[in-house]
Formats: sequence, C-alpha cells, structure tokens
Amino acid sequence: LNKILIVGFGNVGQAFFELFHEKRKLLRLEDTAIYEISSTTYGHIKNPSQLTIDQIKAGKLSVERQDAMETIRESEADIVCEFTQVNIKDGEPASSHIRTALECGKNVITTNKGPMALHYEELTELAMKRGVQLKFKGTVMAGTPSFNLLKLLPGAEVQKIRGIFNGTTNFILSEMAKGKSFGECLALAQSMGIAEADSSMDIDGFDSALKAIIFSKVIGWSKHNLGNMEIKGIRGISITDGHCSSVLKLLVSIDKEEASVKPTLLSQGDPLASVDGLLNAVEITTDTLGKIISIGPGAGRTATAQAVMTDLMEIVRTN
Ligand SMILES: NC(=O)c1ccc[n+]([C@@H]2O[C@H](COP(=O)([O-])OP(=O)(O)OC[C@H]3O[C@@H](n4cnc5c(N)ncnc54)[C@H](OP(=O)(O)O)[C@@H]3O)[C@@H](O)[C@H]2O)c1
Repeated sequence: LNKILIVGFGNVGQAFFELFHEKRKLLRLEDTAIYEISSTTYGHIKNPSQLTIDQIKAGKLSVERQDAMETIRESEADIVCEFTQVNIKDGEPASSHIRTALECGKNVITTNKGPMALHYEELTELAMKRGVQLKFKGTVMAGTPSFNLLKLLPGAEVQKIRGIFNGTTNFILSEMAKGKSFGECLALAQSMGIAEADSSMDIDGFDSALKAIIFSKVIGWSKHNLGNMEIKGIRGISITDGHCSSVLKLLVSIDKEEASVKPTLLSQGDPLASVDGLLNAVEITTDTLGKIISIGPGAGRTATAQAVMTDLMEIVRTN
C-alpha cells in the first residue's frame, strides 16, 4: 500500500483530498490511500479516507498531537504532500517539512514555491541521496503542462523561455486594456477572490519570479535567483493610448544568462499577447522544435490538485 500524508489542509490540500477520491478507481489507485492529515487548524487525523471534508473540519478522528515535524518523522506514510503557505524569505515551515520527509526516506510532492525556488539544489540532492522522489509540478502553472513537457522531448536543448506565470496580474492587465484604471482592476480582482488582500506577491512580480527560478533550475540554468534577476511588477501601472497596437503583459523571460519579470509590450501577433484573463502560458524555444506553447489555468483548487495527481502517478508508477 502507498500511504499518503497531507501536511497543510487549505485550498490545495482539500481539493487534492477530493480529487484523489473522485479519480481513485479510474486511475486504479486501490493500492494507494490518504493515510494521514497534519493540519494546524483541524488537528492530526488518521485514516481520513472514509470521512468527508466537513467531517474532517469538524475534528472527527482528530488525535491530539499536531506538530507537523513530529508527524512526518513518525508517520508510516511513504509519500508526503506538502501544501502549506508560501514564505518567500526562507521557505519555512515547508522547507523543514520537506527536508525532514526526504531524510526519513519518504517521497515528497509539493505545490509550495518557496522551498523549490530557494533551496532547489539542496532538496533535489537530498532526494537523490535518499533514493526517493521530490515532485513539484504544481509550483509552475498548476496542472497545466509547463516544465514537465521537457520530459517528452529527450535531447531537446532549451534556448529560451517566455511566460505569463501569474493569473492575477494577467487578469488585471486584461481588464485595464478595456479602459479601467489599475486601482479599479485590483479592487475587482480582490472582490472576485482572485487577488489576496495582501496582493504584493502577485502585483510586485515575486510570484512570477519564484516560478521563473524553478523553471530555470529544472532546465539546469542554476545561476538565477531573487537577488540577481530583474523583477518589476505592475503596481500603479497605466496603459496609455500609445499601447493600442500592442498588448501589455507581465512577462517572464529566461535564458541561460539572464532572467527577468517585467511589464512588456507584445505585438498583437505575438502568441502570448492573446493569453487573456486568468490564463497562464509558457513558450519554450528548443533547438529541435523551435517554439512550442502551453496555455491553461495557472491556479485554482482543482487545477492545482491535478498537478498533484500528475506527480502522484509518476511516483506510484515508478515505485
Ligand atoms: N491555491 C492555488 O491555486 C495554488 C496554486 C499553485 C500553488 N499553490 C501553493 O500551494 C500551497 C497551498 O496553497 P493553498 O491555496 O492551499 O493555501 P491556503 O488555502 O492558504 O492553505 C495553506 C495552508 O497552510 C497551512 N499553514 C498556514 N500557515 C502555516 C504555518 N505558519 N505553518 C504551518 N502551516 C501553515 C494551513 O493549513 P493547516 O491549517 O491545515 O495547517 C493553511 O490552510 C501554497 O504554497 C501556494 O502558494 C496554490
């Protein structure tokens, strides 16, 4: 039996719990079970498979011990799913959760950008040393294929990446193109639940930057980090009439030597110019194919849970 421990039962944790049980039969995952949940809000829950989300939230079957690190160390689970909140300073507490799980010889799936952008080399090396897998598809474009496309292209060498990696800012820029001000569009995004009350991670470009770093690390371009890349957000930006023949996007641009996130004018004919609203997109330029593009949702409960299913199936198939 493959046993899963979920750490962090917020939007993504709950969405994955639901999707897993919905798709379990279809994916022939009878030998895999969500065995345990560690939640600072709902407690430490063992064998939650028979429970509904509401029953879990009501504290049914919750036992007293709640410290996530202790649970990870003592759990019989062989797959730890880390879904706690992102922390851009040091990646904690997710980094410690992941490090501990790997040290204990457990596979890890995370959707948390902090640990992967800040400690990529350390964590991937640790996973390799312990002979376990560390999967993080959900950190870039949720379940929409992004860096995982490269596995389908053996030998292809990546020359350049351009991307729209943040749905909130793309939504705001798309609305602004209809004639509204930045402030109006931000307020609209907040009222729709698309932007957080503290929208700084999105608006100031850091969310896109973390994703750019993770994507470049997967390719093997290891020099980029938050300290040495150009990061400009869209706070207070205005779209003037002069932009009519072009489209303003918060564009991620990466090659081996340079990485940036900045508002960029794209011509109408540019395929990324037509990526509107909450959609994300990536354009990968390789030596063998030229440009390929993937477009789809980059956030959202089920779209992110899909990324976790993608990672889970890879672990289960190779185990
Ligand atoms: N939502 C999306 O569309 C999306 C898309 C891609 C990636 N992600 C990433 O996935 C992760 C989870 O996202 P989410 O939308 O599920 O966020 P969320 O709803 O805010 O849930 C995060 C959970 O983290 C736990 N948590 C919060 N503060 C903590 C702390 N100081 N120490 C330990 N645990 C803490 C809480 O779970 P407990 O109360 O159960 O402990 C909280 O419910 C984040 O890193 C996010 O950036 C989200």
